Amino acid sequence: MLDANFFTDVDFENFRTLLYKESGINFTETNKPILVQRLRVRLQECNVPTAKAYYDIITQNKEELKVFLDAITTNLTWFFRNQPHFDALEKFVLPELMKEKKARNDFTVRIWSAGCSTGEEPYTISMLLAEKLPPPWRAEIVASDLSLKCLMTAKDAFYEKSRISGVPPEYLKKYFDEVEGGFKVKETIKSRIKFDYHNLKNASPWRNFDIVFCRNVLIYFDEIIQREVVNHFWDSMNSKSFLYIGHSESLFGMNTKFEFVKTQWTTLYKKWV
Ligand SMILES: C[S@@+](CC[C@H](N)C(=O)[O-])C[C@H]1O[C@@H](n2cnc3c(N)ncnc32)[C@H](O)[C@@H]1O
Repeated sequence: MLDANFFTDVDFENFRTLLYKESGINFTETNKPILVQRLRVRLQECNVPTAKAYYDIITQNKEELKVFLDAITTNLTWFFRNQPHFDALEKFVLPELMKEKKARNDFTVRIWSAGCSTGEEPYTISMLLAEKLPPPWRAEIVASDLSLKCLMTAKDAFYEKSRISGVPPEYLKKYFDEVEGGFKVKETIKSRIKFDYHNLKNASPWRNFDIVFCRNVLIYFDEIIQREVVNHFWDSMNSKSFLYIGHSESLFGMNTKFEFVKTQWTTLYKKWV
C-alpha cells in the first residue's frame, strides 16, 4: 500500500537528476505523469511505501536501478516503421555503400540498430537485406537497447498476430514460421543479428558500422545528451557511412560533423570523410 503523499516535489527532482545522469532520459513537468505512473507500479511490485525509500534502494543497488531504467523506457515500435526509410536504404544507401566497399574489396555491410526495442526494427532490416543484398555480400547487424525486457522479447523472435500487421504478406510467408498464437522469425533472418545491452549515454565498444539506425530514441534526451550520443555514433562508424534518425527528429543546430542528405524518399545523414 502506497503512502498518500508517496511522491513529493523533492522526489521528482531527485529522480529526474538520477535518471538523467544514468540514462540521458530527460523528465520534465510535461512527462512527469509517465514517471509517476511507472514508479507507482514498481513501488507496488516491490512493496515499498514511498518514492524516497525506493530512491535509497536504487542509489545503492545497481541491479534494481537497471530494472527501474527499463521500466521508465518507452518501447513503442513496429515492423517496417516509416517505409520511406527502407526505400532509401534499398535505392540509395545500399547502392552507394556497395560502390564504396567493392572498391575496397569489402563485401560485409555492418549495421547497428541502436535503441532496437523489441526487435521489429533489426528484423525488418535483416529481411530487407536478405532480399536486396545479393551474394557475395553479407550483412552483420548489432541491435542494442537499455531495456533488458525488450531485448529478451527481441531474442525470442516471437510476435503475436496483432504485431505483425506491418509485414508484407510475401515477407511473412518467406521469413516467419506460423506458431501457436503468432509468428516466429526464421533463424536465417535472426542469426545475423547480435542483440546486446548498451546504454547510449556511454561510448560504444563497437566500431566500423556502415549504417546506424537510431530512430525515435533521441526524442527522450535533451540537446546536450543528443549531441553526446550522436558523437558516439560518429566514432563507431566507418569513414563512408550513413545515419538514420526518426522522421520527427533532427540534428539541425547541433553542430555535429554529419552531413545532411536529402533523397527522394527521405532525409538522413552521412559521415563522408
Ligand atoms: C520508441 S523505442 C524506438 C524503437 C525503434 N528504434 C523504432 O524506431 O521503432 C525507443 C527505445 O530506445 C531505448 N532507449 C531509451 N534510452 C536509451 C538509452 N539511454 N540507451 C539505450 N537505449 C535507450 C528504449 O528502451 C526504447 O526501446
